[in-house]
Amino acid sequence: MSELLITDIAELATPRGRAPRKADDQGRIARVAQAEVFCRDGRIAFAGPAADRYRAVGALPGVRRLSAAGGTVVPGFVDAHTHLPWAGDRADEFLARMAGADYRDIAAAGGGILATVRATRAASEAELTDNVRRRLDRMLRWGTTSAEVKSGYGLALDAERRQLRASAAAAEDHAIEITPTLLAAHETPPEHRTAPDRWIDEIVDAIIPQIAEDGLAAHCDVFCEHGVFDVPSSRRVLEAGRAYGLRPRLHADEFVDSGGAQLAAEIGAVSADHLVAVSDDGIAALASAGVIGVLLPAVSLFVRAKGFAPARRLIEAGVPIALATDCNPGSSHTESLPFIAALAVFHLGMTIEETLCAITLNAAGVLGRADEIGSVEVDKQADLVVLEGPSLAWLAYHPGVNPVRTVIKRGRVAAAAHVASETAD
Ligand code: NIG
Ligand code: FE
Repeated sequence: MSELLITDIAELATPRGRAPRKADDQGRIARVAQAEVFCRDGRIAFAGPAADRYRAVGALPGVRRLSAAGGTVVPGFVDAHTHLPWAGDRADEFLARMAGADYRDIAAAGGGILATVRATRAASEAELTDNVRRRLDRMLRWGTTSAEVKSGYGLALDAERRQLRASAAAAEDHAIEITPTLLAAHETPPEHRTAPDRWIDEIVDAIIPQIAEDGLAAHCDVFCEHGVFDVPSSRRVLEAGRAYGLRPRLHADEFVDSGGAQLAAEIGAVSADHLVAVSDDGIAALASAGVIGVLLPAVSLFVRAKGFAPARRLIEAGVPIALATDCNPGSSHTESLPFIAALAVFHLGMTIEETLCAITLNAAGVLGRADEIGSVEVDKQADLVVLEGPSLAWLAYHPGVNPVRTVIKRGRVAAAAHVASETAD
């Protein structure tokens, strides 16, 4: 039996529930001062005021203790959108963009996603596994305990499969649990440029059935965007995925309103991601269909977009909002959800409470795991983060500096800035 009692918590801050939260409820979180959390066998057995702990679970003599030392405890972070298995880098494009080049012009000239496809195709599975592992290590140190991981830099059956297998291998002995997504429809590969519909045929007829049979993906995603995949092609891919049990989600309306949000609503997608250019009709469609909006504010910095997604309008319309890194070498090279949280507060106009919900419970909803992770409540999996600082504000209040003191996965310390603070009495 494994047990861990976390003491000296100045504030325990968590959303509550087993489903994504929307509108005013997104910002309604529980905040408990002078709290304790008791984990037993990887689950939360108690979470609440320290004064109530004895009545709930008894004296716990000899139990292993971890002092939060006046820090804040929040749920382990959930990164609902990443592109981890890639090789190479695009630092040259990054500097070119900062000097004024346009993301989509670079892509049209054969750079962008296709540059990473060339490097990823040339990499061995072992190299990709190593790359994913190093990225997961960084994510863990910044508080992420569960993450989605997409393919999409292979753009051929074997290469997509290699990306997904490498991700699974990296996660096998890692504290972070991953939920894999097939993103074969990320771009049209060079060999299909003259007849792009043949690439859609191949995804639908060969890649989706094989990846589903291999059990390598839980979701099917598509980059639905003007100049990439239009609505009819995106619909074909997502419906084919669904027929094989892969839950649909989309990159939608990143640069221009391409009808992606309406498509997400029409087919009942789990999420519509990006949404910088979403229209009012698109927002209304997402709200009425219960699609989660996944906002990726670091992309607006990396591609030097004119603006950020309309988070306030989305929340006010009743769209549940998650936030994610979109970790990839082109449009968002970061593993840090606290950095994303800071951007949400600085640029999206989100409150710190809405932001916490967006990187925990609502992100867990995107992964289909809100019943299991995403909040600090009795019987949920014991995935927790101890933040530096005595209140939730510290999630975003020290930007550029890691606010994560300790990460607990399934009731065990998985990463710690001060391992010495763990003691047994
Ligand atoms: O989510 N928008 C499409 N895909 C990624 C970018 C990938 C890349 O630039 O390599 C994104 O931003
Ligand atoms: Fe993405």
